[in-house]
Amino acid sequence: MEPAPFPTARPRRLRRTATLRDVVAETRLHPDQLVLPLFVKEGLAAPEPVGSMPGVAQHTRESLRAEVAAARREGVRSVILFGIPAHKDHHGSEAWNPEGIVQRALRDLRDDHGDDLVLIADTCVDEYTDHGHCGPLRPDGSVDNDAANAAYARAAVAQADAGADVVAPSGMMDGMVAAIRAGLDEAGHAEGAAIMSYCTKFASAFYGPFREAAESAPASGDRSGYQLDPRNGDAGVREALTDAAEGADVLLVKPGLPYLDVVHRVKEATRMPLAAYQVSGEHAMLHAAAERGWLDAEATIAESLRALRRAGADLLLTYSARLAARAIR
Ligand code: PBG
Repeated sequence: MEPAPFPTARPRRLRRTATLRDVVAETRLHPDQLVLPLFVKEGLAAPEPVGSMPGVAQHTRESLRAEVAAARREGVRSVILFGIPAHKDHHGSEAWNPEGIVQRALRDLRDDHGDDLVLIADTCVDEYTDHGHCGPLRPDGSVDNDAANAAYARAAVAQADAGADVVAPSGMMDGMVAAIRAGLDEAGHAEGAAIMSYCTKFASAFYGPFREAAESAPASGDRSGYQLDPRNGDAGVREALTDAAEGADVLLVKPGLPYLDVVHRVKEATRMPLAAYQVSGEHAMLHAAAERGWLDAEATIAESLRALRRAGADLLLTYSARLAARAIR
């Protein structure tokens, strides 16, 4: 008697119907996981589209309110704000002016939505400095680390005072989380104002379009003196561990898709809430190809975000948050 043949593995059994595929899916993408980055510019009369970022605009305070209301209706519940001030100076002092553009916008949005909206503020000064770097410069052109941290702490306090739930330092200075936490605690925000640290931010060419949107391109030099070298994954994990130890509540890896390995490693090493940022260059690539009819924007964006989830990201910052929320509903 011949032995019964070993039953053939048939993985396709679980791919037969859409319902089966949904039921056995390992990861989920939900609108609650999406964070929409938005730009608000002081002194603007009407919203100004950003050429290299389809669907993205620099907003006025009024058009920002309308955009956030529309995003909320589509299911997006978190936004992160970037401000462009009318006046820039060496230190970026508009970043901590209580009447600065982001602080006003935070109060507007809190008035409109109460606690139904998670308000995140990017905490950096590159949009506010006249030289475009993420902190004041020394005579040799390098960024003064501790002076930058002092500026971030002041900005974070102003943002928390204006109602931010989360402040998000993106300058990659050493000790920035500790400095900001100390500043917030001293100002009475020990129990509020969580910190989402861009702990693992690479010196990336994929930020190009953002610098047009935020008017923050460095006037000279680049950010390789403070952002991570794209060749280094271990260093990215080390910085995540440092920021966690300093009191970060959420960690962030940026850019997203080119750094899936790092997303995975940071999640494994920390088990902290983790965000990944689909940055301006990723947005531009997908939408530019879609405009030519070469890619399907909705499908490629949803797939990219699902890949980030699979790698270990909990939160997803994407300029396509509205489109994604509609696509996955
Ligand atoms: C700096 C900051 C940058 C981005 C977010 N915060 C740009 C930079 O480092 O030049 C980039 C985001 C994007 O490209 O979408 N404060």
